[in-house]
Amino acid sequence: MVIDHAFKADSPARFARLRELGPIHPAEFHLGLKGWVVVGYDLAREALTHPDLLKDATPAAEALAAAGYVLHRPSVGLGAQMMEADPPEHTRLRRLASAAFTPRRTTEMAPRIEQIAHSLIDAMPPSGELDLVEAFNAPLPATVIAGLLGIPHRHHHDFRRWAGQALQVASPEHRAALAALHALLAELVADKRRRPQDDLLSALVAVRDEEDGRLSEEELVGTALMLVVAGHETTVNLLGNAVLALLRHPGQQELLRARPELMPGAVEEFLRYDPSVERSTSRYAARDLELGNVAIPRGSMVAVALGSAGRDAPQPGGGDPDVLDVTRPGARHLAFGHGIHYCLGAPLARLEATIALRTLLARIPELQLAVPADSLRWIGSGIVRGVLSLPVRYRVG
Ligand code: HEM
Repeated sequence: MVIDHAFKADSPARFARLRELGPIHPAEFHLGLKGWVVVGYDLAREALTHPDLLKDATPAAEALAAAGYVLHRPSVGLGAQMMEADPPEHTRLRRLASAAFTPRRTTEMAPRIEQIAHSLIDAMPPSGELDLVEAFNAPLPATVIAGLLGIPHRHHHDFRRWAGQALQVASPEHRAALAALHALLAELVADKRRRPQDDLLSALVAVRDEEDGRLSEEELVGTALMLVVAGHETTVNLLGNAVLALLRHPGQQELLRARPELMPGAVEEFLRYDPSVERSTSRYAARDLELGNVAIPRGSMVAVALGSAGRDAPQPGGGDPDVLDVTRPGARHLAFGHGIHYCLGAPLARLEATIALRTLLARIPELQLAVPADSLRWIGSGIVRGVLSLPVRYRVG
């Protein structure tokens, strides 16, 4: 099975067919990288907590070279940060970052997120057609993360553009965008060191732990860059997938308009039904092992289909997992991963999505797809799932 552009445009149905055949399958990912994909919920949890499935790609490099392959690791080149680290480095980096990126810092963003959502809608013509990704879904998370980190206003325009390009591994701008973000964050880290402010970058600079010391300069910039890269496209496409799901299920949209208090639960359902991170980042087998009765040789790449897991997970209340139900109590999913790499930004992502979608429905009483659903173009590479643009016909109330 090849996970390519055609697969990604149709992944829920394709993963459903794979699940009927078993919980794990050989797969070929982009750049021709071969490995395994886990599609069943129970096995997904097992894989994501397996002590010998690690981020360290060294065993894979050896195995691939021995087999005559050139290793094209699709590393996003972030430098030292938690997403590509294993314990004990991971434990240390994550503990230090968590000490700065506290739940309080997230909750305090709520009024700002609401203000950003309103100002983006205020900037739209009162009615007509536009691309909702460009007008709302993309600028909202970029402006939120810029505010959270403490990026001065004069850099916001560039920052938004680079954040948008940073995870598009296949795009020609990708490397340049990462380098530009890296340079900007390094400059700002130096600024915050001289003049600390009440923002996340200053908190990362200041964080110090009895046991773990502090973040080195490289780790600081790597961590900040990680927050931008991990938090931007993921949220843009959660909003896109959620709005698209509502446009395709008008009854559910009506229900949410009538009962906006359902939104936090609905966000869990959107994360379950069509999450923006289609598969986990890659793990590599540190030794020969078995996963779901399949022999996985040392060095094999293993990825978990997180969206598939959400369609396979037994749901509290017993509802049909293939149905979108915004009233589902406690939707069970793995959209934020599982185990030690569980998404550090999950509270922020949930808050952003809840406020953004509630504001959108409250302010825009008429919202329809402006093109046939089957003509939408989907992101073709990488781990993110979402549409490249979302043309809508709308009227602001
Ligand atoms: C990790 C999903 C938003 C920061 C992850 C992982 C997933 C995920 C699946 C685990 C990857 C793996 O194990 O292979 C999402 C989704 C989001 C979202 C669906 C939005 C809808 C955010 C935001 C931030 C963030 C807003 C921060 C501002 C991180 C970080 C990690 C991570 C730092 C790495 C954690 C670690 O390695 O210990 N995210 N994320 N994410 N996420 Fe998110």
